[in-house]
Order: sequence, then C-alpha cells, then structure tokens
Amino acid sequence: MTHGLFVTLEGSEGVGKSTQLRLLQSALASLGHEVLITREPGGSPGAEDLRQLLLFGKNPLSLRAEILTHFAARADHLDQVINPALAEGQVVICDRFTDSTMAYQGYGRAEGDPDVLDLISRLQSQLGREPDMTFLLEVPRDVARLRLAARGAPVDRYEQSDESFHARVTAGFREIARQNTGRIRRLHLDTHSAEEVNSLIVKDILSQISQG
Ligand code: TMP
Repeated sequence: MTHGLFVTLEGSEGVGKSTQLRLLQSALASLGHEVLITREPGGSPGAEDLRQLLLFGKNPLSLRAEILTHFAARADHLDQVINPALAEGQVVICDRFTDSTMAYQGYGRAEGDPDVLDLISRLQSQLGREPDMTFLLEVPRDVARLRLAARGAPVDRYEQSDESFHARVTAGFREIARQNTGRIRRLHLDTHSAEEVNSLIVKDILSQISQG
C-alpha cells in the first residue's frame, strides 16, 4: 500500500468495541499488516488532555464549546498521529470519530437540531480526512447496560446521561448509517458472536486493501 487505510469503529457504550479492537489488531498483525489502534476523544498526548476535560471536567461546557473541543482534540489527533501513520501506509483503526460527535452532540444533546447538525457537518468537512470505512456495532440497550455495570470503570459524563439521551444517540447512529451506506456497515452483535463479527470486519478490510 502506498497510503494506508483509515477504519473507524462506532456505536453506543457497551456494544463491544474494545473486544473487536483487540481481535482486529491480532488478526491483521498476524497477516503481516502494520496496524495502529487509537481512540477518540484522545489518541495523541494533547487530545488525551482534552479527553479528561470532556469526560471528567468539573464544569459543564456549552454545547458549542463541547463540539469545538471534540474537534480540537480530533485535529491534534489527525495532525500528530493518524495522518503520519496513514502516510507510512499503516492500517489505522480508530475507536470513534466524527460520527460520534454527530450522534452524541448532534442527535443526543441537541436532539437533532438542524443548525447543530450543520455546524458538525461543516467542521467535519474542514478536517480534510474521512474514514475509508466505518463499522457501526449494535446491541440491544439492556445488553449494553449489563456490560457497562460489569465493567465497573469510572462513569464519565456521557455514561451518566439519562436513558432518553442514549436512545437518541442510538437512533442518531442509525440515521447516520442510513445517510452513509457506502461508508458505514452496521453489525449486530446480538445475532452474531464477537468472533463472527470480527471475521466480517477483517474480510471487508482485506478486500479494501486488495482494491487499494
Ligand atoms: P469511550 O472511549 O468509552 O467510548 O468514551 C468516550 C465517550 O465520549 C463516549 O461516551 C462517547 C463520547 N463522545 C462524544 O460524545 N463525542 C465524540 O465526538 C466522541 C469521539 C466521543
């Protein structure tokens, strides 16, 4: 590959993204591909500082400030980590990207307000980088809730939001997938095992690499 492949994984909390990332890294590395696994918000030292502020900051940000901070973190992550790795021909797999801002801030927090969706779209187009392919992982919310409870990790600002927020985020992801059928593939982890979903993702990635 003369330039790399940019893959993103999306979905609500507790859908099993971490398991998929682990399985993907070992499957692709064992086939000889150079793989970089990264995440948002975060992924570069400066963006990780912004992650702390976004998820655990003492004071709530206004919606516009929250959106711009997600994009500030994303710009740093792209400039310092993602774009250089892609230029070296690596496969970059990122846990969340702009679709999360559209789902959480656009559909979740702003309840689909067209002005907010438009602001996020415009910021997105300023970035100069879109994922080559995106996998949207889905499980029923009660399954996701059980997994989150079992994880026992610190509860961040978004996890603390109420059920109606999470329902809007989930519906938002479905709407984003509907509008981007060429890029986004929906995968249901309730009807397929983690291993089956992993095989499907690996197959898609390898087919994209062979075409590129
Ligand atoms: P996670 O790393 O556990 O997925 O947590 C990140 C949280 O941040 C998750 O609740 C989703 C949220 N988030 C947004 O609200 N907007 C964004 O643009 C991104 C990347 C994440």
